[in-house]
Amino acid sequence: MIEVKNITKSFDGRTVLHDISTVFEDGKTNLIIGRSGSGKTVLIKNIIGLIKPDQGEILYDGRNLLTMNKHDLNMLRREMGMLFQGSALFDSMTVLENVMFPLNMFSNDTFKEREKRAQFCLDRVNLSDAGHLYPSEISGGMMKRAAIARAIALNPKYLFCDEPNSGLDPKTSLIIDDLIHDITVEYNMTTVINTHDMNSVMNIGENIIFIKEGIKEWQGTKEQVITSNNKALNDFIFASDLFRKVKEVEMQQEEG
Ligand SMILES: Nc1ncnc2c1ncn2[C@@H]1O[C@H](COP(=O)(O)OP(=O)(O)OP(=O)(O)O)[C@@H](O)[C@H]1O
Ligand SMILES: [Mg+2]
Repeated sequence: MIEVKNITKSFDGRTVLHDISTVFEDGKTNLIIGRSGSGKTVLIKNIIGLIKPDQGEILYDGRNLLTMNKHDLNMLRREMGMLFQGSALFDSMTVLENVMFPLNMFSNDTFKEREKRAQFCLDRVNLSDAGHLYPSEISGGMMKRAAIARAIALNPKYLFCDEPNSGLDPKTSLIIDDLIHDITVEYNMTTVINTHDMNSVMNIGENIIFIKEGIKEWQGTKEQVITSNNKALNDFIFASDLFRKVKEVEMQQEEG
Protein backbone atom coordinates (compact mmCIF):
# COMPACT_ATOMS: atom_id res chain seq x y z
CA MET A 1 0.00 0.00 0.00
CA ILE A 2 1.22 3.49 -0.86
CA GLU A 3 -0.26 6.46 0.97
CA VAL A 4 0.03 9.86 -0.66
CA LYS A 5 -0.72 12.66 1.79
CA ASN A 6 -1.27 16.30 0.83
CA ILE A 7 1.30 16.47 -1.96
CA THR A 8 1.86 19.94 -3.39
CA LYS A 9 4.43 20.79 -6.04
CA SER A 10 5.25 24.03 -7.84
CA PHE A 11 7.73 24.84 -10.60
CA ASP A 12 8.91 28.46 -10.84
CA GLY A 13 5.98 29.70 -8.80
CA ARG A 14 3.39 27.75 -10.80
CA THR A 15 1.57 25.08 -8.79
CA VAL A 16 1.34 21.85 -10.77
CA LEU A 17 0.02 19.59 -7.99
CA HIS A 18 -2.40 20.95 -5.37
CA ASP A 19 -2.74 19.08 -2.09
CA ILE A 20 -3.16 15.57 -3.52
CA SER A 21 -4.05 12.75 -1.14
CA THR A 22 -4.87 9.17 -2.03
CA VAL A 23 -4.14 5.53 -1.26
CA PHE A 24 -2.89 2.96 -3.77
CA GLU A 25 -3.82 -0.55 -2.76
CA ASP A 26 -1.97 -3.91 -2.97
CA GLY A 27 -2.88 -6.40 -5.64
CA LYS A 28 -4.74 -3.76 -7.61
CA THR A 29 -4.18 -1.76 -10.76
CA ASN A 30 -4.44 1.82 -9.51
CA LEU A 31 -4.92 4.30 -12.36
CA ILE A 32 -4.06 7.99 -12.51
CA ILE A 33 -6.06 9.55 -15.33
CA GLY A 34 -6.40 13.05 -16.73
CA ARG A 35 -5.75 15.25 -19.73
CA SER A 36 -2.32 15.89 -21.12
CA GLY A 37 -0.53 18.33 -18.82
CA SER A 38 -2.80 17.65 -15.81
CA GLY A 39 0.14 16.50 -13.68
CA LYS A 40 0.10 12.68 -13.92
CA THR A 41 3.80 12.28 -14.65
CA VAL A 42 4.83 14.87 -12.06
CA LEU A 43 2.71 13.00 -9.50
CA ILE A 44 4.27 9.63 -10.29
CA LYS A 45 7.76 11.19 -10.19
CA ASN A 46 6.98 12.58 -6.73
CA ILE A 47 5.76 9.19 -5.59
CA ILE A 48 8.91 7.36 -6.70
CA GLY A 49 11.20 10.03 -5.31
CA LEU A 50 12.51 11.48 -8.58
CA ILE A 51 11.03 14.86 -7.66
CA LYS A 52 10.72 16.20 -4.13
CA PRO A 53 7.31 17.71 -3.30
CA ASP A 54 7.11 21.11 -1.62
CA GLN A 55 4.72 19.67 0.94
CA GLY A 56 3.25 16.35 1.91
CA GLU A 57 4.17 12.77 2.78
CA ILE A 58 4.53 9.54 0.85
CA LEU A 59 4.35 6.31 2.83
CA TYR A 60 5.34 2.91 1.42
CA ASP A 61 3.68 0.41 3.74
CA GLY A 62 4.22 2.94 6.51
CA ARG A 63 7.78 3.86 5.50
CA ASN A 64 8.18 7.58 4.90
CA LEU A 65 9.93 8.13 1.56
CA LEU A 66 10.81 11.75 2.23
CA THR A 67 12.48 11.31 5.60
CA MET A 68 14.29 7.99 5.17
CA ASN A 69 18.09 7.83 4.98
CA LYS A 70 20.04 7.01 1.82
CA HIS A 71 20.50 3.35 2.69
CA ASP A 72 16.77 2.80 3.31
CA LEU A 73 15.93 4.72 0.14
CA ASN A 74 18.24 2.45 -1.88
CA MET A 75 16.62 -0.61 -0.34
CA LEU A 76 13.15 0.75 -1.13
CA ARG A 77 14.18 1.49 -4.74
CA ARG A 78 14.92 -2.21 -5.20
CA GLU A 79 11.31 -2.94 -4.35
CA MET A 80 10.13 -0.71 -7.21
CA GLY A 81 9.70 -1.79 -10.82
CA MET A 82 9.28 0.86 -13.47
CA LEU A 83 7.91 1.01 -16.95
CA PHE A 84 8.20 4.39 -18.56
CA GLN A 85 6.86 6.04 -21.70
CA GLY A 86 8.56 4.20 -24.54
CA SER A 87 9.97 0.86 -23.53
CA ALA A 88 13.51 2.20 -23.00
CA LEU A 89 15.27 -1.07 -23.68
CA PHE A 90 19.01 -0.91 -24.26
CA ASP A 91 19.48 -1.28 -28.02
CA SER A 92 22.93 -2.79 -27.72
CA MET A 93 21.73 -5.66 -25.50
CA THR A 94 19.64 -8.68 -26.37
CA VAL A 95 16.20 -9.02 -24.80
CA LEU A 96 17.57 -11.53 -22.27
CA GLU A 97 20.47 -9.22 -21.39
CA ASN A 98 18.01 -6.37 -20.94
CA VAL A 99 15.99 -8.40 -18.44
CA MET A 100 19.16 -9.50 -16.67
CA PHE A 101 20.36 -5.90 -16.32
CA PRO A 102 18.68 -5.07 -12.98
CA LEU A 103 19.69 -8.48 -11.64
CA ASN A 104 23.32 -7.80 -12.57
CA MET A 105 23.05 -4.45 -10.78
CA PHE A 106 21.33 -5.52 -7.60
CA SER A 107 21.43 -9.25 -7.06
CA ASN A 108 24.24 -11.38 -5.67
CA ASP A 109 23.08 -14.50 -7.48
CA THR A 110 25.38 -16.44 -9.82
CA PHE A 111 25.24 -15.81 -13.57
CA LYS A 112 23.28 -19.05 -14.08
CA GLU A 113 20.71 -18.07 -11.45
CA ARG A 114 20.31 -14.58 -12.91
CA GLU A 115 19.89 -16.01 -16.37
CA LYS A 116 17.30 -18.46 -15.07
CA ARG A 117 15.34 -15.70 -13.35
CA ALA A 118 15.45 -13.53 -16.50
CA GLN A 119 14.23 -16.44 -18.63
CA PHE A 120 11.43 -17.09 -16.11
CA CYS A 121 10.29 -13.47 -16.47
CA LEU A 122 10.43 -13.72 -20.28
CA ASP A 123 8.35 -16.90 -20.11
CA ARG A 124 5.83 -15.06 -17.91
CA VAL A 125 5.29 -12.37 -20.55
CA ASN A 126 5.15 -14.91 -23.40
CA LEU A 127 8.54 -14.06 -24.85
CA SER A 128 10.19 -17.43 -24.21
CA ASP A 129 11.91 -17.57 -27.58
CA ALA A 130 12.86 -13.91 -27.99
CA GLY A 131 15.74 -13.76 -25.49
CA HIS A 132 18.46 -13.82 -28.14
CA LEU A 133 16.91 -11.03 -30.27
CA TYR A 134 17.85 -7.36 -30.17
CA PRO A 135 15.18 -4.66 -29.57
CA SER A 136 15.44 -3.59 -33.22
CA GLU A 137 14.37 -7.11 -34.23
CA ILE A 138 11.06 -7.23 -32.30
CA SER A 139 7.68 -5.43 -32.51
CA GLY A 140 6.54 -2.56 -30.28
CA GLY A 141 4.25 -4.89 -28.31
CA MET A 142 7.09 -7.33 -27.76
CA MET A 143 9.31 -4.47 -26.57
CA LYS A 144 6.66 -3.53 -24.01
CA ARG A 145 6.50 -7.12 -22.82
CA ALA A 146 10.29 -7.27 -22.57
CA ALA A 147 10.22 -4.03 -20.57
CA ILE A 148 7.59 -5.56 -18.25
CA ALA A 149 9.79 -8.66 -17.82
CA ARG A 150 12.68 -6.37 -16.88
CA ALA A 151 10.48 -4.36 -14.50
CA ILE A 152 9.46 -7.51 -12.59
CA ALA A 153 12.91 -9.18 -12.63
CA LEU A 154 13.67 -8.16 -9.06
CA ASN A 155 10.23 -9.20 -7.83
CA PRO A 156 9.06 -5.68 -6.99
CA LYS A 157 6.39 -4.90 -4.43
CA TYR A 158 5.51 -1.71 -6.28
CA LEU A 159 5.14 -1.31 -10.04
CA PHE A 160 4.92 2.08 -11.78
CA CYS A 161 3.87 2.45 -15.40
CA ASP A 162 3.72 5.80 -17.20
CA GLU A 163 1.52 5.47 -20.30
CA PRO A 164 2.30 1.76 -20.86
CA ASN A 165 0.20 1.71 -24.04
CA SER A 166 1.68 4.68 -25.84
CA GLY A 167 2.38 3.78 -29.45
CA LEU A 168 0.47 0.47 -29.37
CA ASP A 169 -2.63 -0.49 -31.36
CA PRO A 170 -5.85 -1.01 -29.31
CA LYS A 171 -5.68 -4.81 -29.32
CA THR A 172 -2.04 -4.95 -28.26
CA SER A 173 -2.84 -2.33 -25.62
CA LEU A 174 -5.48 -4.64 -24.15
CA ILE A 175 -2.98 -7.50 -24.03
CA ILE A 176 -0.46 -5.30 -22.21
CA ASP A 177 -3.16 -4.07 -19.78
CA ASP A 178 -4.23 -7.62 -19.03
CA LEU A 179 -0.64 -8.70 -18.51
CA ILE A 180 0.02 -5.84 -16.08
CA HIS A 181 -3.22 -6.63 -14.25
CA ASP A 182 -2.51 -10.37 -14.05
CA ILE A 183 1.02 -9.98 -12.67
CA THR A 184 -0.27 -7.38 -10.21
CA VAL A 185 -2.72 -9.91 -8.79
CA GLU A 186 -0.30 -12.83 -9.04
CA TYR A 187 2.51 -11.07 -7.12
CA ASN A 188 0.21 -8.88 -5.01
CA MET A 189 2.00 -5.76 -6.19
CA THR A 190 0.85 -2.20 -5.67
CA THR A 191 0.66 -1.06 -9.27
CA VAL A 192 0.24 2.58 -10.30
CA ILE A 193 -0.47 3.38 -13.94
CA ASN A 194 -0.68 6.76 -15.66
CA THR A 195 -2.98 6.74 -18.63
CA HIS A 196 -5.40 8.73 -20.73
CA ASP A 197 -6.56 5.61 -22.54
CA MET A 198 -10.29 5.08 -21.87
CA ASN A 199 -9.99 1.44 -22.90
CA SER A 200 -7.53 0.92 -20.05
CA VAL A 201 -9.82 2.74 -17.66
CA MET A 202 -12.70 0.38 -18.45
CA ASN A 203 -10.49 -2.71 -18.61
CA ILE A 204 -8.32 -2.48 -15.50
CA GLY A 205 -9.54 0.60 -13.58
CA GLU A 206 -9.94 -0.95 -10.13
CA ASN A 207 -9.03 2.26 -8.34
CA ILE A 208 -9.02 5.40 -10.45
CA ILE A 209 -7.78 8.83 -9.52
CA PHE A 210 -8.83 11.59 -11.87
CA ILE A 211 -6.54 14.63 -11.89
CA LYS A 212 -7.63 17.93 -13.40
CA GLU A 213 -5.15 20.80 -13.55
CA GLY A 214 -3.19 19.36 -10.66
CA ILE A 215 -6.20 18.80 -8.40
CA LYS A 216 -7.69 15.42 -7.52
CA GLU A 217 -11.19 15.83 -8.89
CA TRP A 218 -12.56 12.37 -8.36
CA GLN A 219 -11.66 8.86 -7.19
CA GLY A 220 -13.54 5.61 -7.79
CA THR A 221 -13.78 2.35 -9.70
CA LYS A 222 -14.46 1.72 -13.37
CA GLU A 223 -18.04 0.83 -12.45
CA GLN A 224 -18.44 4.18 -10.68
CA VAL A 225 -17.02 6.07 -13.68
CA ILE A 226 -20.11 5.13 -15.62
CA THR A 227 -22.60 6.50 -13.12
CA SER A 228 -20.60 9.45 -11.80
CA ASN A 229 -22.14 12.93 -11.93
CA ASN A 230 -18.79 14.69 -11.69
CA LYS A 231 -18.86 17.20 -14.53
CA ALA A 232 -15.12 17.41 -15.08
CA LEU A 233 -14.85 13.61 -15.15
CA ASN A 234 -17.73 13.36 -17.59
CA ASP A 235 -16.19 16.02 -19.84
CA PHE A 236 -12.95 14.07 -19.86
CA ILE A 237 -14.73 10.81 -20.60
CA PHE A 238 -17.13 12.28 -23.13
CA ALA A 239 -14.14 13.21 -25.25
CA SER A 240 -14.04 9.48 -25.98
CA ASP A 241 -16.76 8.70 -28.50
CA LEU A 242 -17.14 5.02 -27.77
CA PHE A 243 -17.35 5.71 -24.08
CA ARG A 244 -20.02 8.35 -24.48
CA LYS A 245 -22.25 5.75 -26.12
CA VAL A 246 -21.66 3.22 -23.33
CA LYS A 247 -22.49 5.84 -20.74
CA GLU A 248 -25.64 7.00 -22.50
CA VAL A 249 -26.97 3.43 -22.65
CA GLU A 250 -26.19 2.91 -18.95
CA MET A 251 -27.96 6.12 -17.94
CA GLN A 252 -31.03 5.25 -20.02
CA GLN A 253 -31.20 1.85 -18.35
CA GLU A 254 -30.98 3.51 -14.94
CA GLU A 255 -33.78 5.95 -15.74
CA GLY A 256 -35.99 3.36 -17.36
N1 LIG B 1 10.57 19.88 -14.48
C1 LIG B 1 9.55 20.70 -14.75
N2 LIG B 1 9.71 22.02 -14.68
C2 LIG B 1 8.68 22.88 -14.92
N3 LIG B 1 7.44 22.48 -15.25
C3 LIG B 1 7.22 21.16 -15.34
C4 LIG B 1 8.25 20.21 -15.10
N4 LIG B 1 7.73 18.95 -15.27
C5 LIG B 1 6.44 19.14 -15.60
N5 LIG B 1 6.12 20.44 -15.63
C6 LIG B 1 4.78 21.00 -15.93
O1 LIG B 1 3.83 20.36 -15.11
C7 LIG B 1 2.59 20.18 -15.79
C8 LIG B 1 2.15 18.73 -15.69
O2 LIG B 1 3.01 17.94 -16.48
P1 LIG B 1 2.93 16.35 -16.55
O3 LIG B 1 4.09 15.89 -17.35
O4 LIG B 1 2.81 15.81 -15.19
O5 LIG B 1 1.58 16.12 -17.36
P2 LIG B 1 0.88 14.73 -17.73
O6 LIG B 1 -0.45 14.71 -17.07
O7 LIG B 1 1.82 13.60 -17.43
O8 LIG B 1 0.68 14.90 -19.31
P3 LIG B 1 0.79 13.78 -20.49
O9 LIG B 1 -0.53 13.05 -20.49
O10 LIG B 1 0.94 14.62 -21.71
O11 LIG B 1 1.97 12.92 -20.23
C9 LIG B 1 2.83 20.67 -17.21
O12 LIG B 1 2.31 21.95 -17.32
C10 LIG B 1 4.33 20.69 -17.35
O13 LIG B 1 4.74 21.67 -18.25
MG1 LIG C 1 2.81 12.20 -18.64
